Parts: sequence; C-alpha cells; structure tokens
Amino acid sequence: MSNRTFTIVKPDSVEKGNFGKIITRLEAEGFRVLGVKKVSLGDRQAQAFYAVHRERPFFGDLVRYMTSGPVYVAALEKSNAVPELRKLMGATDPAKAEAGTIRKEFGESIERNAIHGSDSDENAKSEIAFFFAEYELN
Ligand code: RTP
Ligand code: MG
Repeated sequence: MSNRTFTIVKPDSVEKGNFGKIITRLEAEGFRVLGVKKVSLGDRQAQAFYAVHRERPFFGDLVRYMTSGPVYVAALEKSNAVPELRKLMGATDPAKAEAGTIRKEFGESIERNAIHGSDSDENAKSEIAFFFAEYELN
C-alpha cells in the first residue's frame, strides 16, 4: 500500500472559493501536501487525464467541465493514502455521499462534485507524474 495519492480541487470548488476550506480539511484529516499548483487544463490534457472514461456518455461534459476554469492539482501523503482519500471524498454523486465527506459538504451534482481522488496506487503514481516532477514533491 503506497502512502501517496493525487487530488484535483475541481473548477466548481475553485469558483466558489472553497480551495482553502478543502485543503484545511485534508490537512486536518492527516494528509500532508507534497506539492500543489493552480493550473488551467486544456482539452487535450483533460481528455488524456480522464482517458479511461472516453467511451462513457458523460465524457464530453466531463472534459468541458474540467476545462471550464482553473483547478488545483496536488500530491498528498498519508498512510493508505488512496483508500483514505476516497473515504474522505465520499460517493461520486454528492447526494449519495455520506455525511461528513468532502463531496457531501462541497459538491453540487454528480458532475460538479468538488474533488478528484486517485482510485488505485498505480493511478496515483501516474496521475502525480502527469503534473509533477519528483523534485517538486517535498
Ligand atoms: P474522480 O475520478 O473525479 O475522482 O471521480 P470518481 O472516481 O468518483 O468517479 P468516476 O466514475 O471516475 O467519474 C469521473 C468524473 O466524471 C464526472 N461524472 N459525471 N454525468 C455523470 O453521470 C457523471 N458521472 C461521472 C464526475 O465529475 C466524476 O467525478
Ligand atoms: Mg475516478
């Protein structure tokens, strides 16, 4: 089990000024920020990042949403980081997310759901490498 995961504070959160609140929550739950930056994803980048979903009916909307405004990308550290973040995020649909989860508190809809979290150690590693060089992780 790796101690690293990767998150995106999504456009809806940044628009609403929730970045600080979400980072505060992550730190309060024991995640350490190894690296963070604000970026605006281009179409090609968003398509590549979410390539596993390219055949899904929501793919076009997902790419439009993820490119609709700036996001914060961050590499995080905690023991059992991947499952710990997935638990803290809650279900994809905020309406179905458990009380106390980030998506329950900050998400608006199944698409505008506040935050991304890697779903496996392997994907965490490749998602971190998509945005960061190893020397940028402290
Ligand atoms: P994520 O990858 O962003 O952490 O979210 P997830 O694992 O909980 O959900 P996933 O199935 O990987 O879906 C990726 C993102 O696509 C958007 N989505 N829209 N309109 C829809 O039915 C729909 N379903 C998913 C969400 O932004 C979701 O987080
Ligand atoms: Mg996913």
